[in-house]
Amino acid sequence: MGQPVNVGVVGCGAISAQYFRTIDRLPRLRLVAVADLDLDRAREAVRPYAGVEVLSVAELMADPRVDLVLNLTVPAAHAEIALQAIAAGKDVYCEKPLAATAADAERMLAAAGAARVRVGCAPDTVLGTGTQTARKALDDGLIGRPVAATATMVTPGHERWHPNPDFYYVPGGGPLLDMGPYYITSLVTLLGPVTTVIGAASRTRSKRTIGSGPRRGEEIPVTVDTHVTGVLVHASGALSTLVMSFDAAATKASHIEVHGEKGSLVVPNPNHFDGPVLVSGVGEEGWRDLPAAAGYLDAGRGVGLADFAATPAGEEPRTGGSLAFHVLDVMESLLASARSGAAVAITSTCERPRPVGLLPAGGHSA
Ligand SMILES: NC(=O)c1ccc[n+]([C@@H]2O[C@H](COP(=O)([O-])OP(=O)(O)OC[C@H]3O[C@@H](n4cnc5c(N)ncnc54)[C@H](O)[C@@H]3O)[C@@H](O)[C@H]2O)c1
Repeated sequence: MGQPVNVGVVGCGAISAQYFRTIDRLPRLRLVAVADLDLDRAREAVRPYAGVEVLSVAELMADPRVDLVLNLTVPAAHAEIALQAIAAGKDVYCEKPLAATAADAERMLAAAGAARVRVGCAPDTVLGTGTQTARKALDDGLIGRPVAATATMVTPGHERWHPNPDFYYVPGGGPLLDMGPYYITSLVTLLGPVTTVIGAASRTRSKRTIGSGPRRGEEIPVTVDTHVTGVLVHASGALSTLVMSFDAAATKASHIEVHGEKGSLVVPNPNHFDGPVLVSGVGEEGWRDLPAAAGYLDAGRGVGLADFAATPAGEEPRTGGSLAFHVLDVMESLLASARSGAAVAITSTCERPRPVGLLPAGGHSA
């Protein structure tokens, strides 16, 4: 396997602990340094891990031991931190979305191309057994030619549990940019890239109230739409219908369903690595459970980083920048369509990412 890749993490907030646990158990990756605007938060976050240095962002970028920067800052800071890593000649892997705007993401990818470094991006949940088993079922022809899909994510809003939920309600956030990456990355994995979108969106209130932590009770402004719905036209001709909402209490709809000429498939939550995959053929009673047949087993956030680090030079990583850019372009275009009332043609595209064989987390399938 060779030397582990030395990872420096910028941003030690809510999601960082999940990455630290995965990096700690995967021999391909080694956590060497962390940085955050709040150095006490960074120190606290890596307390369980011996030998990890707590540095300023500038020190981390300049540190020759850091091979790859893992960018776990809030979406509005993704591009700025990624551009610093790229300028330092380091590969960078961002939490989702790739950037707060497609224009920022475009600058990031152009700089990375010029510097000959690589950009990767979450979500990696779609590399788990849930989405990958569903993808294998499609590729094996279990439901015939895919015709349509539905994707539904509704919640009353993350301010109920996140202690610093401000970023969910400013550009780069909202239900679409926050949760859309899981659903749209899964839809592109299953059905391929998107060529046209039609969107509609609404906003129920201009303020939200923080429900947990030291700021409990504080009101924060809402400057983005909080219920977004739309249709994605895939290059294959399949049509996906999307509902992403921070304005609904609950739902009994499947996270994702794919309908084909011969049957229908229930795909588990794309924000999770695993979950039941169900199939029902035309004329069949009820649903059959498909056993896990593809994807990383026992995965956690960070398996996509290991997959990215193991991808040979010259090959597009499964969690690569072109997929993340296409997903961001689709989301931004849905919002543009919602504003204009017209369909928007998608100018970006990407390859459908290569499938993952049934593998332990930290393995790498070619
Ligand atoms: N919280 C979750 O459950 C969750 C799940 C999946 C993905 N994500 C994604 O992970 C990212 C981070 O989310 P979070 O919930 O951990 O946010 P958070 O607000 O809890 O943490 C972000 C951290 O980044 C630091 N930071 C912000 N700007 C910085 C800068 N310019 N330089 C250095 N540090 C900076 C902040 O001080 C903070 O500690 C987001 O992109 C989010 O979409 C979050």
